[in-house]
Amino acid sequence: MAILFFSEVDDPDEWRQAFAAQCPDMSFRVWPDIGDPADIEVALVWHPPDNALDQFPNLRLIASLGAGVDHLFRGTGLPVGIPVSRIVDRSLTEQMVEYVVLGTLFCHRQMPAYMVQQKQANWQLLRQPLGRDRRVGVLGLGELGMASARALKALQFDVAGWSRSPKNDAEIPDYVGTEGLKDFLARTDILVCLLPLTPQTEGLLNAAQFARLPHGASFVNAGRGGHVVEGDLLAALDSGQLNHAMLDVFQAEPLPAESPFWSHPGVTLTPHVASITNASSGTALVLENLQRVRAGDAPLYEVVPSEGY
Ligand code: GLV
Repeated sequence: MAILFFSEVDDPDEWRQAFAAQCPDMSFRVWPDIGDPADIEVALVWHPPDNALDQFPNLRLIASLGAGVDHLFRGTGLPVGIPVSRIVDRSLTEQMVEYVVLGTLFCHRQMPAYMVQQKQANWQLLRQPLGRDRRVGVLGLGELGMASARALKALQFDVAGWSRSPKNDAEIPDYVGTEGLKDFLARTDILVCLLPLTPQTEGLLNAAQFARLPHGASFVNAGRGGHVVEGDLLAALDSGQLNHAMLDVFQAEPLPAESPFWSHPGVTLTPHVASITNASSGTALVLENLQRVRAGDAPLYEVVPSEGY
């Protein structure tokens, strides 16, 4: 039996080696060299082409190469009845926590302003609030959001979260639903987005929501570009409503050379690298899930297609 790999951003050789080490009998096929379609049991994919997965009569599992699965539900749909799983993995969570802490501290400790001052050879101290007086708001309290919120809390930030359903976490106060979003944004100096991208969250961060933040707030986006109305984000940065945005994700990736984000003075950006799936632990999870579906059990971290995450 075989695994099919499709990704334009992940290195197939790294994954091939991980599968060879952990399951030498498994044939590893990289799209478009699929061999006999009847061999394919698992599709391990990131942004697969429309209808690409329709041709495998023995497919048992569709595994996302990342934590996000929006890339699977964008196009013409997936073959019906095949379970879909996503990556939940300690190394993925740890990297995301690092990125969120980096972005939050970068904004909190006024690095954007100090970088401008450095270019001007301007030695000037800026007033610095304590972390406990800085209100950080994490949109999305799933695996990555909750871990990030806890790490920020451990740094003494005044942290709250927003989610669709109540989390009742003892440490992280949680705002819920559309009404909760207004109050959540009004109390957030540094907004962190780690939501899943679904039809409900697409375009959520628009001019009206940016206007609810305190004037001069900052924004860290490690969720998806699709959460943001990008023109509204640029306008909020231009007007000073937002002081700075640290962005890892964009509506169009790779970010086109002509995008205004590249050169905007209010933006620090990275090329969708906040957290990259580790091939070795990712392979172990996919193999465990293959055993589970072969035994007739649900895979770990199964996605509910109607929820989109
Ligand atoms: C990365 O964006 C992921 O979904 O893991």
